[in-house]
Amino acid sequence: EIFAPRKNAEGLPLWDDFSREALVDDMRDALEQGGFVAGPIVSGELITRGQPYAITSPNDRQIEVGHCTNADADAIDAALDAATAAAPGWDRRGGEERAAILEKAADLMEADRPALMALLVREAGKTLENAQGDLREAVDHLRYAASQARESFGAPKHLPGPTGEENLLSLHGRGVFACISPWNFPLAIFSAQIGAALAAGNAVVAKPAEQTPLIAARTVRLLHEAGVPADVLHLLPGPGEVVGQALIEDLRVNGVAFTGGTETGIAINRALAAREGPVVPLIAEMGGLNAMIVDSSALPEQVVDDVIASAFDSAGQRCSALRVLFLQEEVADRILEMLTGAVRELTIGDPLDYSTDIGPVIDSQAKLTLQAHKVRMRAEAREILDLPLPDDLPRGSFVSPAIYEIDSLSELKAEVFGPILHVVRFPGDGLAAVCDQINASGFGLTLGLHSRVEQAADFVAARARVGNFYVNRNQIGAVVGAQPFGGEGLSGTGPKAGGPHYLERFATERVMTVNT
Ligand code: NAD
Ligand code: ALA
Repeated sequence: EIFAPRKNAEGLPLWDDFSREALVDDMRDALEQGGFVAGPIVSGELITRGQPYAITSPNDRQIEVGHCTNADADAIDAALDAATAAAPGWDRRGGEERAAILEKAADLMEADRPALMALLVREAGKTLENAQGDLREAVDHLRYAASQARESFGAPKHLPGPTGEENLLSLHGRGVFACISPWNFPLAIFSAQIGAALAAGNAVVAKPAEQTPLIAARTVRLLHEAGVPADVLHLLPGPGEVVGQALIEDLRVNGVAFTGGTETGIAINRALAAREGPVVPLIAEMGGLNAMIVDSSALPEQVVDDVIASAFDSAGQRCSALRVLFLQEEVADRILEMLTGAVRELTIGDPLDYSTDIGPVIDSQAKLTLQAHKVRMRAEAREILDLPLPDDLPRGSFVSPAIYEIDSLSELKAEVFGPILHVVRFPGDGLAAVCDQINASGFGLTLGLHSRVEQAADFVAARARVGNFYVNRNQIGAVVGAQPFGGEGLSGTGPKAGGPHYLERFATERVMTVNT
C-alpha cells in the first residue's frame, strides 16, 4: 500500500512544495510504521515459506529495516511457468496499453516517495540526495520506456516493396526476460530493466540484489497496482549463484538483462553459452575503471568540484564513478592541494542527516575489500590522503575517502568500488599515451576531460573507447533520454539504458509480407 503522507489544507502531501523537512518527517514515519517484507512474489502472491532473515541497515547493523525470504526451486518453477503462459497475451496488448500502465506505475512511485526513499536510505545506505536521484531516475526510466513503447511497439511499420505487395515490420516481446540487478541503484536500475522488458512485451522474472530485496518487493507491488498483470511480473529474491544461476540455466528464459560486476557478467555469458536450445540475448552492463584527464588549461576550482562529485558522491559506489585522475604535471600539485582541502570538508555520517555527504558502503564485505585495497596502496603507492573517520559514527560499514598516487592505471587490475581515488601524473605531450592506458584496461564506461584547449575533446573522443565521455563537468548522474548510459569492452554489451535503442534489444522483429 502506498504510504499515506501528512497533507496540507489542499489535501496535497506537505512535501509536495519541495519541503525537504516534511519529506524527511514522512520518511521517518514510514520507517517507524515498518512492515517492509520481501520474498518471492509469484503471480501476485507473496510466498512466505522458508526461513525469513532480517535486512539491516548498512549505516547501523542494529537497525532492522525489514525481513526477506528467498525464492526456493518451487517458487522459481512456478514463476517461470506463469510468466511463460502470460507472455504472449501481454505482447498482444500492444505498446500503447503497456505504456499507459508504466506511466501509472511512475505516478505511483512518485506518490510513494517517502517510503521508497526511506528504503533507499536505510536498506541501501543512500544519502538523501542520492535517494532522491535514484527515485527520480527510476521514474524517468519508466516514462521513457513508455514513450519508446508507443513509438516502436505500436502499429507495424510499412516498408517499401514492389507494387502488389505489402511489407510490415513489427517488434514483439521475446517471451520471458530474466532481469538481474545490482544493489547500487536498487530502484533506478531495477525499474529500468523491468520497465524496458515489459514495455517491449515480455513477461519478467526479476532477481534483485541480495542486499536490497525490500525496495524491489515494494516496486513490484507498485507495478502490479499500476496494472502490470500478476502473471507477467514475478520477483525472485535470493543469492545470485542460486536463484540467478537457476534462471540463467532455464530454457524458459528467452533473454537476460544483467547489471552488476564484470566477473558476474562474464560468468552469466558463459552459462548462457552452455545452454542447449536457442541462442538468447544478454544485455550486460558491468563495471568500470573510469578516468578523468585534466590538462594545464583546465579551471582548477571546477576540476575540484567535479572530482569530488565524480569520485566521492554515493561513497564512490557508482559504476560511473571516477577511479583514476590523470593530472598534467604542471598543475598536479596545485590541484591536489585544493582537492585534499575539499575532501577534508566532506561529512561522513548517517545518510538520513541533511549534512551527510558520504554515507556507508553497502556491507562489511565491501568495507573489508576497500580496506584491503588501502593496505595495498599504502605499501605500493604514495598516500596523499586518507581522511580519518569521525569517532561518533554508528556501527555500520563506513570507509573514509582516500587518495593515492600511482604511476600508471595498469597498476589497478579491477574496479575499486568505493571512495578511493587514484592519481597519475602525465607530461604535457602525453595525452595520446593516457588514452592508450585507459584503453589498455579493457574497461570502457565513463571518461571525463577538463580542458579549454579547443581540439582536446575531439582528440580524446577519437581515441578513447568509452561509452560516456564528459567534457568540463563531472562524470556521474547520466540523465535518461539525454545521456543514454552504458559502456563497452569489459564494461558492457550495450545498448545503452535510457537510450533510443534499449527497448529494441528486448524485442524480436517480425516481417509480414502480403500479396495484395
Ligand atoms: P554483482 O555482480 O555482485 O551482482 C549483481 C547481480 O547479479 C545480483 O543480483 C547478484 O545476485 C547477481 N548474481 C551474482 N552471481 C550470479 C550468477 N552466477 N548468476 C546470476 N546472477 C548472479 O554486482 P553488485 O555488487 O550487486 O553491483 C555492483 C557492480 O555493478 C559494480 O561492479 C558496478 O560497476 C556494476 N554496475 C554497473 C552499471 C552499469 O550500468 N554499467 C550500473 C550499476 C552497477
Ligand atoms: N547512471 C548512473 C550514473 O550515471 C550510474 O551515475
